[in-house]
Amino acid sequence: MNRTIVVSGGASGIGAALTKKLRDCGDQVIVIDLADADIISDLSTSQGCDVAIEMISTRFPDGIDGFVACAGVGAHVEPKSKIDRINYFGAIRTIQGLRELVAAKQGAIVAVSSNSAHIDGLDETYLAALVAGDEASAKRFIDAQDPFTAGFNAYCGSKRALALWVRRVAPMYARDGIRLNAIAPGMVDTPLNRQAIDDPIFRESMLQNADSIPMGQGQPEMIADAIVFMLSKEARFMAGSVLFVDGAQDAESCPDRF
Ligand code: NAI
Repeated sequence: MNRTIVVSGGASGIGAALTKKLRDCGDQVIVIDLADADIISDLSTSQGCDVAIEMISTRFPDGIDGFVACAGVGAHVEPKSKIDRINYFGAIRTIQGLRELVAAKQGAIVAVSSNSAHIDGLDETYLAALVAGDEASAKRFIDAQDPFTAGFNAYCGSKRALALWVRRVAPMYARDGIRLNAIAPGMVDTPLNRQAIDDPIFRESMLQNADSIPMGQGQPEMIADAIVFMLSKEARFMAGSVLFVDGAQDAESCPDRF
Protein backbone atom coordinates (compact mmCIF):
# COMPACT_ATOMS: atom_id res chain seq x y z
CA MET A 1 0.00 0.00 0.00
CA ASN A 2 3.09 2.19 0.34
CA ARG A 3 1.90 4.16 3.33
CA THR A 4 4.30 5.22 6.08
CA ILE A 5 3.02 4.13 9.49
CA VAL A 6 4.82 4.69 12.81
CA VAL A 7 4.20 2.10 15.54
CA SER A 8 5.44 2.61 19.08
CA GLY A 9 6.01 -0.63 20.98
CA GLY A 10 6.27 -2.46 17.67
CA ALA A 11 9.04 -4.81 18.79
CA SER A 12 6.79 -7.19 20.74
CA GLY A 13 3.27 -8.53 21.20
CA ILE A 14 0.40 -6.60 19.59
CA GLY A 15 2.72 -3.99 18.05
CA ALA A 16 4.92 -6.68 16.47
CA ALA A 17 1.88 -8.50 15.05
CA LEU A 18 0.63 -5.19 13.63
CA THR A 19 4.04 -4.29 12.18
CA LYS A 20 4.22 -7.64 10.41
CA LYS A 21 0.72 -7.31 8.95
CA LEU A 22 1.36 -3.78 7.68
CA ARG A 23 4.73 -4.70 6.17
CA ASP A 24 3.16 -7.75 4.51
CA CYS A 25 0.69 -5.33 2.86
CA GLY A 26 3.57 -3.21 1.52
CA ASP A 27 3.50 -0.41 4.07
CA GLN A 28 6.68 1.15 5.37
CA VAL A 29 6.59 0.77 9.16
CA ILE A 30 8.84 2.71 11.50
CA VAL A 31 9.01 1.08 14.92
CA ILE A 32 9.85 3.07 18.05
CA ASP A 33 10.81 0.87 20.99
CA LEU A 34 13.38 0.30 23.70
CA ALA A 35 15.26 -2.26 21.54
CA ASP A 36 14.95 -4.07 18.17
CA ALA A 37 13.47 -0.97 16.56
CA ASP A 38 14.10 1.63 13.84
CA ILE A 39 14.11 4.30 16.53
CA ILE A 40 15.36 3.31 19.97
CA SER A 41 13.81 5.60 22.50
CA ASP A 42 12.32 5.50 25.98
CA LEU A 43 8.83 6.96 25.63
CA SER A 44 8.31 7.09 29.39
CA THR A 45 10.30 10.34 29.42
CA SER A 46 9.50 13.61 27.67
CA GLN A 47 13.08 13.69 26.33
CA GLY A 48 12.64 10.20 24.84
CA CYS A 49 9.39 11.27 23.18
CA ASP A 50 11.03 14.44 21.83
CA VAL A 51 13.95 12.48 20.33
CA ALA A 52 11.61 10.05 18.57
CA ILE A 53 9.36 12.85 17.26
CA GLU A 54 12.39 14.80 16.02
CA MET A 55 13.81 11.77 14.21
CA ILE A 56 10.49 11.07 12.49
CA SER A 57 10.01 14.74 11.54
CA THR A 58 13.50 14.87 10.03
CA ARG A 59 13.06 11.63 8.10
CA PHE A 60 9.49 12.31 6.89
CA PRO A 61 9.14 16.10 6.53
CA ASP A 62 6.16 15.66 4.17
CA GLY A 63 4.20 13.73 6.76
CA ILE A 64 3.22 10.20 7.77
CA ASP A 65 0.04 8.28 7.03
CA GLY A 66 -0.53 6.88 10.46
CA PHE A 67 0.65 6.47 14.02
CA VAL A 68 -0.23 3.71 16.48
CA ALA A 69 0.57 4.45 20.12
CA CYS A 70 0.98 0.86 21.25
CA ALA A 71 3.98 1.01 23.62
CA GLY A 72 2.93 0.10 27.12
CA VAL A 73 3.69 -1.84 30.26
CA GLY A 74 1.59 -3.99 32.58
CA ALA A 75 0.46 -3.49 36.16
CA HIS A 76 3.32 -5.67 37.43
CA VAL A 77 6.25 -3.46 36.37
CA GLU A 78 8.42 -1.53 38.79
CA PRO A 79 8.55 1.26 39.63
CA LYS A 80 4.77 1.56 39.50
CA SER A 81 5.04 5.28 38.74
CA LYS A 82 6.51 4.30 35.38
CA ILE A 83 3.23 2.76 34.25
CA ASP A 84 1.27 5.97 33.63
CA ARG A 85 4.39 7.70 32.29
CA ILE A 86 4.51 5.30 29.35
CA ASN A 87 0.86 4.19 29.01
CA TYR A 88 -0.69 7.65 29.29
CA PHE A 89 1.75 10.57 29.31
CA GLY A 90 4.08 8.98 26.72
CA ALA A 91 1.14 8.00 24.51
CA ILE A 92 -0.41 11.46 24.41
CA ARG A 93 2.98 13.18 24.07
CA THR A 94 3.85 11.15 20.99
CA ILE A 95 0.37 11.61 19.48
CA GLN A 96 0.57 15.37 20.03
CA GLY A 97 4.12 15.50 18.69
CA LEU A 98 3.24 13.63 15.50
CA ARG A 99 -0.11 15.38 14.97
CA GLU A 100 1.07 17.81 12.29
CA LEU A 101 2.88 15.10 10.36
CA VAL A 102 -0.29 12.97 10.31
CA ALA A 103 -2.40 16.00 9.36
CA ALA A 104 -0.11 16.62 6.38
CA LYS A 105 -1.18 13.25 4.94
CA GLN A 106 -4.77 13.34 6.31
CA GLY A 107 -3.94 10.12 8.13
CA ALA A 108 -5.14 8.14 11.13
CA ILE A 109 -3.98 7.66 14.71
CA VAL A 110 -4.84 4.73 16.97
CA ALA A 111 -4.21 4.87 20.72
CA VAL A 112 -4.03 1.44 22.36
CA SER A 113 -6.10 1.61 25.54
CA SER A 114 -7.57 -1.51 27.21
CA ASN A 115 -10.96 -2.91 28.18
CA SER A 116 -9.70 -2.54 31.77
CA ALA A 117 -10.43 1.18 31.24
CA HIS A 118 -14.04 0.35 32.24
CA ILE A 119 -13.11 -1.48 35.42
CA ASP A 120 -14.84 -0.51 38.70
CA GLY A 121 -12.89 0.66 41.74
CA LEU A 122 -10.46 3.11 40.18
CA ASP A 123 -9.38 5.95 42.43
CA GLU A 124 -11.09 9.10 41.17
CA THR A 125 -8.47 11.48 42.62
CA TYR A 126 -5.72 9.68 40.75
CA LEU A 127 -7.75 9.63 37.55
CA ALA A 128 -8.41 13.37 37.91
CA ALA A 129 -4.65 13.98 38.24
CA LEU A 130 -4.02 12.09 35.00
CA VAL A 131 -6.80 13.91 33.14
CA ALA A 132 -5.39 17.22 34.41
CA GLY A 133 -1.92 16.24 33.16
CA ASP A 134 -0.56 16.49 36.69
CA GLU A 135 2.32 13.98 36.60
CA ALA A 136 3.69 14.97 39.99
CA SER A 137 0.39 14.36 41.84
CA ALA A 138 -0.14 11.11 39.94
CA LYS A 139 3.32 9.92 41.01
CA ARG A 140 2.73 10.89 44.65
CA PHE A 141 -0.51 8.92 44.67
CA ILE A 142 1.02 5.80 43.12
CA ASP A 143 4.14 5.90 45.32
CA ALA A 144 1.94 5.86 48.44
CA GLN A 145 0.02 2.70 47.51
CA ASP A 146 0.79 -0.98 48.08
CA PRO A 147 2.03 -2.74 44.91
CA PHE A 148 -1.31 -4.30 43.96
CA THR A 149 -3.36 -1.11 44.43
CA ALA A 150 -0.68 0.98 42.73
CA GLY A 151 -0.44 -1.39 39.75
CA PHE A 152 -4.21 -1.68 39.43
CA ASN A 153 -4.79 2.09 39.51
CA ALA A 154 -1.80 2.96 37.36
CA TYR A 155 -2.62 0.43 34.63
CA CYS A 156 -6.40 0.72 34.48
CA GLY A 157 -6.33 4.46 35.26
CA SER A 158 -3.78 5.20 32.53
CA LYS A 159 -5.87 3.27 30.03
CA ARG A 160 -9.10 5.02 31.06
CA ALA A 161 -7.42 8.44 30.94
CA LEU A 162 -6.07 7.65 27.47
CA ALA A 163 -9.52 6.68 26.14
CA LEU A 164 -11.08 9.78 27.75
CA TRP A 165 -8.37 11.97 26.21
CA VAL A 166 -9.02 10.47 22.76
CA ARG A 167 -12.75 11.18 23.12
CA ARG A 168 -12.04 14.75 24.21
CA VAL A 169 -9.59 15.76 21.49
CA ALA A 170 -10.77 13.64 18.54
CA PRO A 171 -13.16 16.33 17.20
CA MET A 172 -10.27 18.84 16.97
CA TYR A 173 -8.11 16.27 15.24
CA ALA A 174 -11.00 15.42 12.88
CA ARG A 175 -11.27 19.09 11.86
CA ASP A 176 -7.60 18.84 10.82
CA GLY A 177 -8.44 15.75 8.76
CA ILE A 178 -6.96 13.26 11.25
CA ARG A 179 -9.01 10.28 12.36
CA LEU A 180 -8.08 9.67 16.00
CA ASN A 181 -9.53 6.55 17.65
CA ALA A 182 -8.72 4.27 20.56
CA ILE A 183 -8.81 0.50 20.68
CA ALA A 184 -9.64 -1.29 23.94
CA PRO A 185 -8.29 -4.83 23.72
CA GLY A 186 -9.18 -7.53 26.17
CA MET A 187 -6.60 -9.95 27.48
CA VAL A 188 -4.35 -11.30 24.74
CA ASP A 189 -1.40 -13.63 24.96
CA THR A 190 1.73 -11.45 24.82
CA PRO A 191 4.95 -11.12 26.85
CA LEU A 192 3.31 -8.30 28.88
CA ASN A 193 0.44 -10.55 29.77
CA ARG A 194 2.60 -13.56 30.57
CA GLN A 195 4.86 -11.47 32.83
CA ALA A 196 1.82 -10.20 34.75
CA ILE A 197 0.55 -13.78 35.17
CA ASP A 198 3.99 -14.82 36.45
CA ASP A 199 3.98 -12.04 39.06
CA PRO A 200 2.77 -13.49 42.39
CA ILE A 201 0.98 -10.23 43.28
CA PHE A 202 -1.09 -10.17 40.09
CA ARG A 203 -1.30 -13.86 39.22
CA GLU A 204 -4.67 -14.60 40.81
CA SER A 205 -6.46 -11.55 39.42
CA MET A 206 -4.96 -12.14 35.95
CA LEU A 207 -6.10 -15.77 35.92
CA GLN A 208 -9.60 -14.77 37.11
CA ASN A 209 -9.68 -12.14 34.40
CA ALA A 210 -8.65 -14.69 31.74
CA ASP A 211 -11.34 -17.13 32.94
CA SER A 212 -14.05 -14.50 32.65
CA ILE A 213 -13.64 -13.82 28.90
CA PRO A 214 -16.61 -15.34 27.04
CA MET A 215 -14.44 -16.20 24.02
CA GLY A 216 -11.31 -17.01 26.04
CA GLN A 217 -8.00 -15.19 25.83
CA GLY A 218 -7.16 -13.63 22.46
CA GLN A 219 -4.06 -13.54 20.28
CA PRO A 220 -2.12 -10.39 19.30
CA GLU A 221 -3.07 -10.84 15.62
CA MET A 222 -6.76 -10.40 16.55
CA ILE A 223 -6.05 -6.90 17.86
CA ALA A 224 -3.65 -6.15 15.00
CA ASP A 225 -6.38 -6.98 12.45
CA ALA A 226 -8.72 -4.45 14.08
CA ILE A 227 -5.99 -1.78 14.07
CA VAL A 228 -5.25 -2.48 10.39
CA PHE A 229 -8.93 -1.72 9.72
CA MET A 230 -8.87 1.42 11.87
CA LEU A 231 -5.92 2.71 9.83
CA SER A 232 -7.53 1.87 6.50
CA LYS A 233 -9.70 3.94 4.18
CA GLU A 234 -12.53 1.49 4.89
CA ALA A 235 -12.69 3.19 8.33
CA ARG A 236 -12.76 6.68 6.77
CA PHE A 237 -15.74 7.93 8.83
CA MET A 238 -14.53 6.39 12.09
CA ALA A 239 -13.19 9.04 14.45
CA GLY A 240 -13.44 9.55 18.20
CA SER A 241 -14.37 5.91 18.79
CA VAL A 242 -13.19 3.55 21.50
CA LEU A 243 -13.39 0.11 19.92
CA PHE A 244 -13.62 -2.84 22.33
CA VAL A 245 -12.02 -5.97 20.89
CA ASP A 246 -12.25 -8.35 23.80
CA GLY A 247 -14.29 -11.47 23.14
CA ALA A 248 -17.42 -9.90 24.72
CA GLN A 249 -15.82 -9.43 28.15
CA ASP A 250 -16.75 -5.75 28.42
CA ALA A 251 -20.31 -6.45 27.22
CA GLU A 252 -20.68 -9.08 29.91
CA SER A 253 -19.23 -7.01 32.75
CA CYS A 254 -20.81 -3.65 31.74
CA PRO A 255 -24.02 -4.59 29.87
CA ASP A 256 -25.60 -1.14 30.43
CA ARG A 257 -22.59 0.85 29.21
CA PHE A 258 -21.53 1.47 25.63
P1 NAI B 1 4.41 -6.28 24.96
O1 NAI B 1 5.15 -6.18 26.22
O2 NAI B 1 4.46 -7.53 24.19
O3 NAI B 1 4.79 -5.06 23.99
C1 NAI B 1 4.89 -3.76 24.48
C2 NAI B 1 6.02 -3.06 23.77
O4 NAI B 1 6.12 -1.72 24.30
C3 NAI B 1 7.39 -3.73 24.03
O5 NAI B 1 8.07 -3.94 22.82
C4 NAI B 1 8.10 -2.77 24.93
O6 NAI B 1 9.50 -2.76 24.79
C5 NAI B 1 7.48 -1.43 24.49
N1 NAI B 1 7.71 -0.43 25.53
C6 NAI B 1 7.46 -0.56 26.85
N2 NAI B 1 7.90 0.52 27.53
C7 NAI B 1 8.42 1.36 26.59
C8 NAI B 1 9.04 2.62 26.67
N3 NAI B 1 9.23 3.25 27.84
N4 NAI B 1 9.47 3.22 25.53
C9 NAI B 1 9.31 2.58 24.33
N5 NAI B 1 8.72 1.37 24.20
C10 NAI B 1 8.29 0.76 25.32
O7 NAI B 1 2.89 -5.92 25.33
P2 NAI B 1 1.52 -6.02 24.54
O8 NAI B 1 0.65 -6.89 25.33
O9 NAI B 1 1.72 -6.26 23.12
O10 NAI B 1 0.98 -4.54 24.77
C11 NAI B 1 0.84 -3.57 23.74
C12 NAI B 1 -0.18 -2.57 24.20
O11 NAI B 1 -1.45 -3.21 24.33
C13 NAI B 1 0.14 -1.97 25.56
O12 NAI B 1 -0.17 -0.59 25.54
C14 NAI B 1 -0.80 -2.72 26.50
O13 NAI B 1 -1.12 -2.00 27.64
C15 NAI B 1 -2.00 -2.91 25.59
N6 NAI B 1 -2.91 -3.98 26.00
C16 NAI B 1 -2.44 -5.25 26.13
C17 NAI B 1 -3.30 -6.26 26.53
C18 NAI B 1 -2.85 -7.65 26.71
O14 NAI B 1 -3.62 -8.47 27.27
N7 NAI B 1 -1.67 -8.05 26.28
C19 NAI B 1 -4.71 -5.98 26.80
C20 NAI B 1 -5.10 -4.61 26.62
C21 NAI B 1 -4.20 -3.65 26.23
